[in-house]
Amino acid sequence: MHKELLNRWKKIKKVALSHEIKDELKFKFDGEVLFDEPMREHTYIKIGGKADAYLIPKSLDGLITALKIAAENGIPTFFHGAGSNTLVKEGGIRGFVISTYNSLSRTEIKLETESFLDVEAESGLIFSRLIHLAKDQGCLSLASFIGIPGTVGGLVSMNAGTREAEIKDVVRSVTFLDKDFQIVEVSRENLEFEYRKLKCPRTHFIVKAVFRLEKNATPEKVAEEIKKYQKRRQDTQPLNFPNLGSMFKNPILQGQKNQLTAGQLIEEAGLKDVRVGGARISPKHGNFIINEGQATANDVLALIEMIKDHVKTSSGIALETEIKIIGEDL
Ligand code: EPU
Repeated sequence: MHKELLNRWKKIKKVALSHEIKDELKFKFDGEVLFDEPMREHTYIKIGGKADAYLIPKSLDGLITALKIAAENGIPTFFHGAGSNTLVKEGGIRGFVISTYNSLSRTEIKLETESFLDVEAESGLIFSRLIHLAKDQGCLSLASFIGIPGTVGGLVSMNAGTREAEIKDVVRSVTFLDKDFQIVEVSRENLEFEYRKLKCPRTHFIVKAVFRLEKNATPEKVAEEIKKYQKRRQDTQPLNFPNLGSMFKNPILQGQKNQLTAGQLIEEAGLKDVRVGGARISPKHGNFIINEGQATANDVLALIEMIKDHVKTSSGIALETEIKIIGEDL
């Protein structure tokens, strides 16, 4: 057992960051650098091993510097938002985790007419701030997104949404930093959105996006709508426990009307309230796994596999995860 642990330690240390790279980050990078940073501090479900370096750029230049250091040294990079949809394994992350959460988070009105506003928001802005900006302007367009946790970059990259709307319905353009560190603005017609996904190369970093907000109500009316959606969430989702939102995509079967949602399929398979270690399938909503305090990534992964197996057996449907799973096994 001791030998096994030692080998594991050696394997991790072999690829950990050198002193030179750490120094380069300390001296050149415009932003905050956290070495050996526990990812449980940066995920909503409060799970995850340590990242070699967790980087919070203060400027676009800072972001470019981090990406260049990574590219020159063959270091993997992981783009992270607020961590509301990411499960990090217990072995942590070898490489740089880069998050603009709350750092690159400005907004700017790009265009205003009598009927709409085009607002640009940087990737690190927490999306609820944009929802409240829309409310103050009397725009209903974002009200139904209330309660989807995460940043502008995170919600755009996964085309987040509800039964009412998806990001693709409100976005006008997205600005990326590409693999050659060039800024590229792509308009809506040329963006390829799928269910819970924006198709773009893995190396593209979302810098900002423009949202079209229709002026179609009063701020009071929007506030009322927001309250209604908040109540629905409170009533149907286990928001008092750390969680990852919907774990699985709702299945879309060609030609099938009234297809059951992932939550319904999990309930029908009799899996609600099942526990593995500190992780539990929520008794309130089958598509949520909650951390009761001491859950590990392996507990959550075991529940995911159990759900996939049982739902496949009971309904014939192969559920796909909606969440992002990253990091290494211990
Ligand atoms: N239901 C059950 N049992 C359950 C859970 C749900 O019977 O255990 C039933 C509900 O009663 C309802 C139906 O299933 O009739 C749909 O449930 P819900 O309204 O909760 O919607 P959902 O499809 O499960 C989607 C989004 C959520 C979003 C809600 C509300 C996906 C994968 N999930 O959930 O988004 O909050 O609609 O609009 O599309 C997220 O993406 O992380 C997320 C939370």
